[in-house]
Amino acid sequence: MMQQNAAPMKAIILYDSKTAGGSTDRLIDSIGLELAKTGAYVEKAKCKAQADYSFIQEFDVVIMGAPIYYLLVSSQLLGALVQSNLKKNLKRKKIALFLTCGSPEPMATLLYMPQLKIHLVPNKILTEKIFSPQQLSDPAVIEEFVDELTEAYSKATRKRHSSMHWSEEAREELNGLPSFLRGRIKTGVEEYAEDMGYSTITPAVLNEAKADLGGM
Ligand SMILES: Cc1cc2nc3c(=O)[nH]c(=O)nc-3n(C[C@H](O)[C@H](O)[C@H](O)COP(=O)(O)O)c2cc1C
Repeated sequence: MMQQNAAPMKAIILYDSKTAGGSTDRLIDSIGLELAKTGAYVEKAKCKAQADYSFIQEFDVVIMGAPIYYLLVSSQLLGALVQSNLKKNLKRKKIALFLTCGSPEPMATLLYMPQLKIHLVPNKILTEKIFSPQQLSDPAVIEEFVDELTEAYSKATRKRHSSMHWSEEAREELNGLPSFLRGRIKTGVEEYAEDMGYSTITPAVLNEAKADLGGM
């Protein structure tokens, strides 16, 4: 089944910086404005290591990033991923990542980006970008980041259900369900499988989806 993006994307920029009004603050405002131009609803929230992140549930996309200080991603964002319920609330969310730093891109890709990505293994990463100091206020670079994000988002949502394959065993299990429930459960399981990056629905995926959807 093809599904069009019925509602505008709801995105939250979840960020950290030790510098009020610094380069990261300016960057996220530019990203927010550029994204809003596409019709998206955008909010921003500054991370605290210990906070309640259940509000993330309201958003389709989480744009997450921070500067590097002394070789580490800024501490409140890293702390939130370890100490709070942020990771739990990011489950099945589509993510875009950014970093601001002074190091060359290859070094940042190798040393800094994995500090975030290691916590986001099950997530769909729509796009990622390391912003060098020269790029932070370059409208073309920010526009490119937002374009990549919106394209990947619409591709991910447009493709939904169209290419999902069911194993024979899983299909048998589905066909064993009462017919009035089958369609709804099929859609729910396909959405789950796609969000988790599975291309085939097996009985194991069905069980996972059941647990995730609170028992079907
Ligand atoms: C105290 C301090 C330490 C920094 N350490 C690093 C570093 O280890 N690696 C790096 O690539 N950039 C480093 N930078 C550069 C910052 O990541 C970069 O300037 C960033 O854009 C700063 O964001 P802000 O203006 O929001 O604080 C450091 C900057 C500062 C001020």
